[in-house]
Amino acid sequence: MNTFDFGIVGLGVMGRNLLLNIASQKFAAAGLDLDPEKVNSLQKEADAEHTLEATTDVKHFVGLIQRPRAIMLLVPAGKPVDSAIQSLLPHLDEGDIIIDGGNTYFTDTDRRFVELSAKGIHFFGMGISGGEKGARFGPSMMPGGDKKAYERLRPIFEAIAAKVEGEPCVEYLGNGSAGNYVKMVHNGIEYGIMQLISEIYDLMKRGYNLDEDTIQKAFEEWNETDLKSYLIEITGHILKQKDENGLRLINQISDWAKSKGTGKWTSQNAMDLQVPVPTIDAAVVMRDMSKSKPERIEAATKLIWNNDPAAVNAAEAIASLKSTLYFAILITYAQGLAQLRTASKEYNYELNLETVTKIWRGGCIIRANVLEDFRKAFATDANLPNILLDADIAAKLNESQNGIRTVIQFAVQKGLPVAGLMNSLAYFDAYRSENLPTNLIQAQRDYFGAHTYERIDAPGVFHTEWND
Ligand code: 6PG
Repeated sequence: MNTFDFGIVGLGVMGRNLLLNIASQKFAAAGLDLDPEKVNSLQKEADAEHTLEATTDVKHFVGLIQRPRAIMLLVPAGKPVDSAIQSLLPHLDEGDIIIDGGNTYFTDTDRRFVELSAKGIHFFGMGISGGEKGARFGPSMMPGGDKKAYERLRPIFEAIAAKVEGEPCVEYLGNGSAGNYVKMVHNGIEYGIMQLISEIYDLMKRGYNLDEDTIQKAFEEWNETDLKSYLIEITGHILKQKDENGLRLINQISDWAKSKGTGKWTSQNAMDLQVPVPTIDAAVVMRDMSKSKPERIEAATKLIWNNDPAAVNAAEAIASLKSTLYFAILITYAQGLAQLRTASKEYNYELNLETVTKIWRGGCIIRANVLEDFRKAFATDANLPNILLDADIAAKLNESQNGIRTVIQFAVQKGLPVAGLMNSLAYFDAYRSENLPTNLIQAQRDYFGAHTYERIDAPGVFHTEWND
């Protein structure tokens, strides 16, 4: 008793794999789950290499762990986290540490921190990314909040994290719920990039009528270029996969996309903070559009647009789609990172965006070669308000913007929905506009509501009695 280094509550795929990862790094790990099947299946993994014990009994579980105890919750966000905490509390002692490793909404973490501090329990939220394989062999982890508690556990987290050039993809990020907030925005960016990739795939297929081998090969080849990233890599794998009938599996998969809410949270909170993240918004919207299948089937027969733009050479099409995707992906990261910049001020997180981009280089779902460019940009200027203002990133966007302009024109003529690409380009064009037509909006507001406006040629606040 009291000899285990670490405990995990929730032995679903993530909890089980993270526990096995910890045990593989020679830390003794205890697991708790109410489901005896999950407990038995994990218990079978205990051997000379893996010191672990799994149980359904909360008292026994807590008793296994050395004090001050470190217990991570890997249960679904929301009520299950509160229930898990309530079941542990009677057995814990002052000074013990609880870590929430789930996709928890950041304000829940702030609330739980206050509640648990009053009981002498250290609590912090730590976003974990990388899916089931990442959890087993090296995730990216985003801790925030109680720094002392994190420091005590740092050796375990650094041992199990993904490594890039020998550096672990885990680092303390900031105060309060910083860890959960950064993970939420990670997921928002994930939504945006997935949407963009699906639009490019659609353009290849329905737009340029490329055959399936050519499409698959393009993604495989792009993963050897500046587009190299986990999401491009898995797209190449997915497009290769055949089902049991020898058919391409992708063509048998329903187009109704599900979601667990983290993309929506990113958009909702960006609106609260008045930070534009239109590519992420479009990604959330398009998942919602995908749900209305019966309506879309009916609309396909009623809302007609027949147009066939001139045929394009396949190699040319692939080249411009590649630069289009690269451009729009950079813009998506720019939006998410700008949101983190504002959130850090608003919620007093004290985030260092060089650290964030550094730990996103490996292990997580949005890991990509471009993260190293972003890390360098923040290393050069820690206060950069938006990565679009970095000279190297700006040069890359200026070079690649031709492709996206041509591709969007083609999509519009073809009648294909490319909301993610359009919003990415609109963000770029709005951001680089010294003057926007919002002066007219100000005038209209003043006209109908006497909301006042500012002038460019004189200080102060003005109202006009507009002529009807
Ligand atoms: C990760 C993933 C992970 C999860 C997504 C899926 O970083 O490992 O983001 O957290 O797979 O939340 O989200 P949706 O179900 O909303 O697409």
